[in-house]
Amino acid sequence: MANATLTIGGIVGLVLAVPIVGSLIPSSNSSGGTWSPLSAEEVDALQKATSKPVKLQFTMKYKDAYLPEQGADEYAWGIKIDLDKFKAARPDIFDVPGPNGDLGYPPVTMGFVVFSPICPHLGCYYNWSDDQNRFMCPCHGSQYTFDGTHIAGPAPRGLDPLPLRSTKGAAEVTWIVYQSNTPQRIVVSYQA
Ligand code: FES
Repeated sequence: MANATLTIGGIVGLVLAVPIVGSLIPSSNSSGGTWSPLSAEEVDALQKATSKPVKLQFTMKYKDAYLPEQGADEYAWGIKIDLDKFKAARPDIFDVPGPNGDLGYPPVTMGFVVFSPICPHLGCYYNWSDDQNRFMCPCHGSQYTFDGTHIAGPAPRGLDPLPLRSTKGAAEVTWIVYQSNTPQRIVVSYQA
């Protein structure tokens, strides 16, 4: 009986979790992180970038019921992708069932993917190396291909996408921090 109760509880939790993950993406008027526009120059650079990522810089603004609006300068890495190739290269994004494998938002928008600059291992900021043609983390040596596939080092998953959207002709990005050092993507925060 106890096992049956646990099983039913697990199914109910799973059914509830999927829409909850999607609903957690910030809207423009929610508390927490907000959407920040990319410049026209950055979008143009993304359109032209076929083999190198584009560093996208923006200010994330945060609202809180008790504090004045705050902002944090951040950046992320944008790449232009071929959707079929990207799907084949990143099964960790597209083929993982359940709430932890479901981003709750489209990982590809307008033919672009935006990666969080935070290494999924323990949270350092990684960089792109033109010489090595890959993303490299200075802290413990994790490495990732252009499309974010994990190829070396201790990181337990590939690079994490961030939500990107197109609104009134402008591209906007928002911020999510995922839990470090887990194979699944678990949302920790919407603030930088
Ligand atoms: S934080 Fe990047 S490899 Fe450890």
